[in-house]
Amino acid sequence: MDMLLIKNIGMLATAKGSSPLCGAAQHNGVELIRGCSVLLNGDTIQSVYTDGAAPDCGNVIDAGGALVTAGLVDAHTHLIFGGWRQHEVPLKLRGASYLEILQAGGGILNTLTATRRATEDELYARAEKVLDEMLDHGITTVEAKSGYGLDAENEMKQLRVIRRLKEEGGFSVVPTFMAAHAVPPEFKGDPDGYIEHVCTRILPLVADEELCEFVDVFCETGVFDTEQSRKMLTYGAAYGFKTKIHADEIDAIGGSVLAGEIGAVSAEHLIAIDDKGIASMAKGGTIACLLPGTSLYLGKEFAPARRMIEAGVPVAICTDFNPGSCPSDDLQLCMNLGYLKYRMTPEEVLAAVTLNAACAINRGDSIGTVEPGKQADLVIWDAEDLDYLVYRMGTNKAKTVIRKGIIVK
Ligand code: NIG
Ligand code: FE
Repeated sequence: MDMLLIKNIGMLATAKGSSPLCGAAQHNGVELIRGCSVLLNGDTIQSVYTDGAAPDCGNVIDAGGALVTAGLVDAHTHLIFGGWRQHEVPLKLRGASYLEILQAGGGILNTLTATRRATEDELYARAEKVLDEMLDHGITTVEAKSGYGLDAENEMKQLRVIRRLKEEGGFSVVPTFMAAHAVPPEFKGDPDGYIEHVCTRILPLVADEELCEFVDVFCETGVFDTEQSRKMLTYGAAYGFKTKIHADEIDAIGGSVLAGEIGAVSAEHLIAIDDKGIASMAKGGTIACLLPGTSLYLGKEFAPARRMIEAGVPVAICTDFNPGSCPSDDLQLCMNLGYLKYRMTPEEVLAAVTLNAACAINRGDSIGTVEPGKQADLVIWDAEDLDYLVYRMGTNKAKTVIRKGIIVK
C-alpha cells in the first residue's frame, strides 16, 4: 500500500468518533487543530501528527497552511432522473404551489415520464456527470434515491444505475428505495392500493437483488399519510432495510413523530416541524436531514435548526438535489445557508455535512471524520480556516479532493 503524507495543514477541522453529534456537542465536538500532518496508508487514514513530527514519506502533498476536513457527505439526493423541469419555474413564479403543480400532473409525475423513457445507460451518464461535479466540490459520498419510476421495472432500473455507479464508476453511493414518492397514474386516487403494491410486489424484488440499504417515503398532505408511511417503513424494516422519511416539509401531519416512534435513522425537510415532532425525534435518536437549498428554491421558511439542536436532535445538512425543488448539487452553498439561515455555527455546519451526514446513511464508523482507521476521504480547501469556508459563497473552494486515498482533484 502506498503511503501519502499531507503536511503543512494550517487547520484540521474534524468531528470525532462514529456517532452523531447532538446538542452542545454538535459544536463542541468539532476540533480545530492548528498545524498538523495526516498520513494516509492506501485507502485508510493512518495517523494524525499534531506535534510537528511526521515520518519521511515519498508521496507528500503540501497543504500550504490551508484548511483540511473530511470529505463532505451528501445524505439526501434524488440523483437518478430523466429530463429537467425548467418550464415549471414561471408557473411557480406566478404563484402555483409545489403540491398544485404535482396535483396537475407536473412535478414528480413529469419527471416520472422522462425517467421511464430513459434507458439505464442514459440515466447512468447523467448521474455520472453530477457525481463528478460533486466530487469536484469535495463531496466524496452521496446518498441516492429511486422514486421517479414508480413501478417495478423503472424503480429497479434506477436502483441498478446506482449499483453500476458504485461498481463500474467507483463512486461512493448509498441507495435508497423510494417508490413511495408519489402516487403513479396507474393508481391515481388510490394511495392505499399503491402502498400495498409497493410493499408486497416491488419491495420483495428489490430485496431479492439487494438493490437498496434504505427505504424512504414522502409523508405529506396529498401524498402519503402517516398510516401509509408507517406501513411502507414497517415493511422496509421487515426486509432488513433502514428507514428514512420525508416529513413535515409543507405540513406537520405527523411524519416526524412517526420517525421518532419507529426509530427511523433520519427524517428529512422538517420545515414545518412542531415541538411534538422534535421531542419524538430526540427520543428516537433520529437525525434531522435539513435541506436549505430546497427552502431557498421553493421560497419557503428555513427549518428550525436551532430548536432541534437545543432539543438534542442531531442535525445533518444535505442538498436534496432533484429536478424540481432543488436543481442544485452544491453542498457548499447549503453550508453557507446553514450558517446564515439556520444560524448554525461553522462547527455545527461542518458536523452536519460530515459525521452527522455519514451517520444518516449508516456510515459513521467508516467516514465523516479525519481519524486513524477511517476511510481516507479528505478535502484540502482554498480557505485558511473553517469560518472562511462557510462565509465565502458561490465559488467552489475545494482545492484538492482525496477519495479512498486517491487524489481525484
Ligand atoms: O425532497 N419532496 C419530495 N420530493 C423531492 C422533490 C422531488 C421533485 O420535485 O422532483 C424533495 O424535495
Ligand atoms: Fe427529497
